[in-house]
Amino acid sequence: ATSGCVRLTMAWADLDPSERAEASPPVLEMLDGGGTVASAGEWQAQRPAIRQALEENVYGTFPTGGEARLVERRVIDDNYLGGLAVLEDWDIAVTAIYGGKQAEPALLHMAVMIPAAKANAPVILMETFCRNHNTFPGTDVWRPEGDSMCDGDGIMNDVMSYVFGRYIATPPLEEIARNGYAIAAFHPGDVVPDEAAAGQAALNDMAAPMTGDGERPGAIAAWGWLFSRAVDVLEADERLADSAMISWGHSRYGKAALVGAAWDDRIDGVIAHQSGTGGAALSKEKVGESVGQITDGYPHWFSDSYAAYAGREGGLPIDQHHLLALIAPRPVFLGNARRDVWSDPAGTFLAAQGADPAWELLGSEGLEQETLRSFDPQADISVFIRPGTHGITEEDWPAFLQFLDAHFR
Ligand code: GCU
Repeated sequence: ATSGCVRLTMAWADLDPSERAEASPPVLEMLDGGGTVASAGEWQAQRPAIRQALEENVYGTFPTGGEARLVERRVIDDNYLGGLAVLEDWDIAVTAIYGGKQAEPALLHMAVMIPAAKANAPVILMETFCRNHNTFPGTDVWRPEGDSMCDGDGIMNDVMSYVFGRYIATPPLEEIARNGYAIAAFHPGDVVPDEAAAGQAALNDMAAPMTGDGERPGAIAAWGWLFSRAVDVLEADERLADSAMISWGHSRYGKAALVGAAWDDRIDGVIAHQSGTGGAALSKEKVGESVGQITDGYPHWFSDSYAAYAGREGGLPIDQHHLLALIAPRPVFLGNARRDVWSDPAGTFLAAQGADPAWELLGSEGLEQETLRSFDPQADISVFIRPGTHGITEEDWPAFLQFLDAHFR
């Protein structure tokens, strides 16, 4: 009991950004020492250098391009949720391009829910832990052979919802459809499995045509890149709004949702919930999961150079506020929970503060809240915190929807 109390007290102290160093270096400082970015044009010119620094120091080499082709589209239920929506399966062949050379295509299975009553629907691009048939349970959407992590029997599902929240596997579909949002859900493990050996093997195959001596690619980058491949096929569908494609992810896929938008301006907004280390939280002077812990635990997620910063994070020439700043001036939601110190809510707030000058430079007010607790869904950088731990709970989706309604409805 004592250690529990001590832990809780520490957790509260860990939540105070004012005790911590600001994000460094300042986001508008040019990385080549050339001074301070002072105009929107100069910022545009600076963005490739920031991306390159993030590839070299954190995520590994990105594909220089990519393509997706819709192989087949099947209507699964044209009267889904009592007629609120249409549910479809889309099979997509995705191809990575490195320096003009194409990798072998991989097949991505996407389940797409389109609201019946809303023309030109905004799309939540949802990268999930579970499989498409867990996102849309009781339907005939494609499912892989065998059971996957979210296929437990009744008791296992109850345990999972108890630990990770009611909405960990299945979002509140009716409410989302009623509010006029489409969902395009996919599991990135179709292309790069989330497992060290198999994941790295898939990444190496993907990057095989790479000629230069770029850094080994990491899974977070590849998963981020998959959001772009989803947009490739979705933006051609007239029922959907190509001006309202929102990348959505929880935790490791929250990291990917941020990366996807940072590399692709066709993504119009981001919801990154509890994305933590390598996502929205700063890597320097951090609380919660360290660079050493994340790169030891998940060696396939990042580049070798990120792992080499373990214990000397101060040497990083950039930090995660640079990742956020690449998303400016688009709206971004950063979700947190008070007892999820592992994902470092205070470090996320500091990153939001550090990135804010990019929004201001581009004519948006960016972050308008003074503290971690003063959630403002209207703002273009919206930081949310609720009680509780890591997961997707009853409080999270109303906050996601408030943010979406404020920016995309
Ligand atoms: C682990 C990992 C985190 C990650 C989380 C998740 O806890 O250390 O970095 O965000 O898994 O994806 O749920």
